[in-house]
Parts: sequence; structure tokens; C-alpha cells
Amino acid sequence: MSLPQRVRLVEVGPRDGLQNEARPIDVADKIRLVDDLSNAGLGYIEVGSFVSPKWVPQMAGSAEVFAGIQRKDGVTYAALAPNFRGFEDALLAGVKEVAVFAAASEAFSQRNINCSISESLDRFLPIMEAARLHGIRVRGYVSCVLGCPYEGEVAPKQVASVANELFSMGCYEVSLGDTIGTGTPGATRTLIDTVAANIPRGKLAGHFHDTYGQALVNIYASLLEGVQVFDSSVAGLGGCPYAKGATGNVATEDVVYMLDGMGIETGIDLDALIAAGQRISEVLGRPNGSRVAKARLSA
Ligand code: HMG
Ligand code: MG
Repeated sequence: MSLPQRVRLVEVGPRDGLQNEARPIDVADKIRLVDDLSNAGLGYIEVGSFVSPKWVPQMAGSAEVFAGIQRKDGVTYAALAPNFRGFEDALLAGVKEVAVFAAASEAFSQRNINCSISESLDRFLPIMEAARLHGIRVRGYVSCVLGCPYEGEVAPKQVASVANELFSMGCYEVSLGDTIGTGTPGATRTLIDTVAANIPRGKLAGHFHDTYGQALVNIYASLLEGVQVFDSSVAGLGGCPYAKGATGNVATEDVVYMLDGMGIETGIDLDALIAAGQRISEVLGRPNGSRVAKARLSA
């Protein structure tokens, strides 16, 4: 398959990144991060989550973040909603696009959202119906697509089945999450090929955590399989509170650098992105998780 001319990046740093921080982060810093990202040319930013604050305290201020950001035309500002309550809260906060999230492993589903896979899918149905009424697009996630922290191996067919449920209920795109970053390129290609038996490749996205250093090569493998949308996190922020030891998503800066080098457009200004990532890393008191940013900033 030939490589695409353009790739769409979904920036998940303010959500997948910051949800994992133990220390409270000021709403003003979250707002600044989102605004820095839209100014750097990101066209899609996952700003926060409307989940239980007991489960993920760091996302508790998501409505305030939505209230404070400067919304730019053409930029999608999205949020996670695990249930109808979350969807309603997202609506009240003026969110125009939400994401629901299921898992390909039963054990992860229980730990992450306290219900079975099929219960989670049932919970999403009223969200889909209300979203249609309100003209809100819904994106779907499947976690643990290339391995589960509790169950180990996950069969591609199991991932395909959950992805298919999400797509059939109306998710316009399904993001395949390598939550613990254990996937390798061959497994990634097999996975996409299996999922693509039911869902067009143009409706799939790749979401690679970089725990094992495989994320960029898995993105390349996905490009070869016809996937053109990838989730990434500025400065490689994050992890998952329900997947111990999982590091952040692949750093957006590193993906942009790779795609720039391949002549694939993203519409993102790498220097502005590096500045955004460095700023939030300093706020968090963390080393910058982007290799490209580290190299550029020390040059
Ligand atoms: P539960 O405890 O089973 O829910 O949690 P419940 O309905 O029994 O409610 C318990 C309490 O939570 C009640 O409050 C509810 O009101 C409240 P109480 O009466 O005890 O004071 N509650 C809520 N509060 C705010 N917003 C809501 C909400 N719903 C109920 N929406 C639940 C079930 C799904 C709520 C919980 O397990 C939860 O919030 N989980 C979220 C976990 C999460 O956010 N994980 C990280 C995101 S997923 C991820 O990172 C993976 C991804 O990046 C892809 C990848 O990498 O694989 C997407
Ligand atoms: Mg994730």
C-alpha cells in the first residue's frame, strides 16, 4: 500500500498525558497547554475526561478547562465519556465531540471502568443515541489491543469484535490502543489486517504507548497497512492509571519529525510544538519525553 500524503494527529496529551499525574495541576496550566497546542497547528485535541473524580482525580477540572480555552475555528476539542452521566456533563461543558472507551480484555475493562466489555458497550448505546440528536460525533477506543497488563496476550479477533461493535453502533472512527506498549510491527500489521476485515482502514486510528520503545515503528507499520490517523501526546506525557508501568503515548514531536522527514503533511509547526511540550514538562517538573525535543533543545 502506498503511503499517504497527509496524516491526521489526535493530540491526547492534555487527557491521556495529564490524567496520570499524581500532583494536582492548575487549571490555568491545562488551559495554556491546550491553547499552545492549537496554536502549534494541532487540529484535534483531547482536552479532558468526564469520568468519576474518585477514579481519575486529575480530570476533575475538565469543565473548567473547556470554559477557559480559546477555541480556534477548525479545531476539534474532544473529551472522554465513560457513561451517560459523563456525556451529559460533557454537553453542559460545551463539548462538541466525545470518545467512548472499551477494552479488548475483560480484566482491563473491570479495572478501568468497573464493568464487563458487554456492559460497557450497553452503556454506550444511550450516549450514541443522544449524541446523534445533538449532532455530536463519537469516537471509539479499544484498549489492550496488543496485550493486557492482567491477561497478557489478546487475540486480534477479540479486538476486531469489540472494534466492530463500536463502529456498528455509530463511532465514526475506532482508535486501537496499545495501552501497555508491548506491540511490535508484525503484530501491529496482523492486528490491523484482522480489524480491517470489517472496518474500512480509513476509519481506524493507532494509539501507541511507547513503554517498550516500539511506538514509532508501529506507526510506520500502521501506515503501511493504510492507517492515516494517529494519537500522540506532546512531550510523551502520560501513561494509564489502570496499567501500572505504562509510559506515555508516543511523543507528538517525534511523530511530526518522522512524518516531516517522509514528506507526509500534518499541518503542525514542529518548533511551536516543541515549545509547548517543554513548557508543560517544566510545569510538571518532568524531563521532556520527546527525543526530538531533547535533541533540538540541547543543540
Ligand atoms: P462505578 O464506581 O462503577 O460507577 O465507576 P457508579 O455508577 O457506581 O458511580 C460511582 C460514583 O461515581 C457515584 O458517585 C457516581 O455519581 C460517580 P458517589 O455516589 O459515589 O459520590 N460517577 C461519576 N462522576 C463523574 N462523572 C461520571 C460519573 N459516573 C459515575 N461520568 C466509572 C464507573 C466508569 C464511572 C468509573 O470506573 C470511571 O470513571 N472510570 C474512568 C477510568 C478512566 O478514566 N480511565 C482512563 C481513561 S481510558 C485510557 O486511558 C485508555 C485510552 O487512552 C486508550 C489506551 O491507551 O488503551 C483511552
Ligand atoms: Mg492511552
